[in-house]
Amino acid sequence: MKINVDLLKKFESGLDPRHPENSKIPAKVLGYGEISTVFEIEGESNLACKRMPIFRQQKELDQYETIYNEYNSILKDKVGINVPPYGFASFPCERYIVCFDVQEKLPPQSFGDKLIHTLKDDDVIAFFSLVLTQLKKVWEFNKKSTGIEIGIDGQISNWAIKDFDPNRPHVDSKAQLYYIDTSTPFIRKNGKEQLDPELFLRSAPSFLLWLIRWLFLKDVMTRYYDFRLVAIDIMANFYKEQRSELIPCLIQVTNDFFAKEAKDLGIKPISAEEVRSYYKEDALIWTIFLAMRRLDRFIHNRILGKPYIYILPGKIKR
Ligand SMILES: Nc1ncnc2c1ncn2[C@@H]1O[C@H](COP(=O)(O)OP(=O)(O)O)[C@@H](O)[C@H]1O
Ligand SMILES: [Mg+2]
Repeated sequence: MKINVDLLKKFESGLDPRHPENSKIPAKVLGYGEISTVFEIEGESNLACKRMPIFRQQKELDQYETIYNEYNSILKDKVGINVPPYGFASFPCERYIVCFDVQEKLPPQSFGDKLIHTLKDDDVIAFFSLVLTQLKKVWEFNKKSTGIEIGIDGQISNWAIKDFDPNRPHVDSKAQLYYIDTSTPFIRKNGKEQLDPELFLRSAPSFLLWLIRWLFLKDVMTRYYDFRLVAIDIMANFYKEQRSELIPCLIQVTNDFFAKEAKDLGIKPISAEEVRSYYKEDALIWTIFLAMRRLDRFIHNRILGKPYIYILPGKIKR
């Protein structure tokens, strides 16, 4: 994939992290993740550029780039999950090294978090079933491979429908999906996590590192290797997306799927209570995390008079 690195450099140097849309090179925010921000940058309107300003040393970045590429290629070639055409660009800035995971831009209306509000309920369920079918490939791959295991964040906002026609919004079992969230490459080799989770703690306020490290390492990194937890995570997100009325049906579909299509994986059924309490805990973790990051930004900007290089999402409706 051809990437205009000069443009990205200009973008980064003129970036206004508090108001990215007012940056010297204008950019639209396509999505906020918990950790990174995805931009459409003026002049590269066919690309989605995911900015990660978390690297301090070239070695860290090189390692990340290797795992990022490997993860994309395992998903695509070994697991059989579509990922959009992708690329990678990085360069040093004054105090950090930034990288951009670049992807072909897909239409925003084709993403799961939009679709669950625009499709008919039956189609939302059909879409969710397609996601389960894709996820199953991951655990089949893990089961048959030796020495290598991958994880995946199945969140609904991480899937997009290929060739989606917004004028005829419909999903059936023939629809094809893309998985887009490859920037956190979960790969374990002989049980050892390849990605250094410390990197993803970089944007956390230093005064909270001990707490986040503990939560993150205990829960966040490991849940993505467990099909059952990934399914709970996706369903719990329907609370956040204000579509909780669909959850009972989703649970039924999931438990059916576990009992039939994914029988070989031997996964225990999921209860409504589990999804609800998972959501409560998760919402609490991320709400506190975001509040503390805002405080950290305040301390940097107003008290220490230092720049704050991370971009924080606005209010999140939950
Ligand atoms: N290739 C893309 N085309 C269009 N939008 C994208 C693309 N990649 C990401 N986005 C938008 O940004 C959001 C967050 O991207 P994602 O890679 O999932 O980051 P995170 O790890 O922060 O969740 C997506 O849900 C989507 O709305
Ligand atoms: Mg995501």
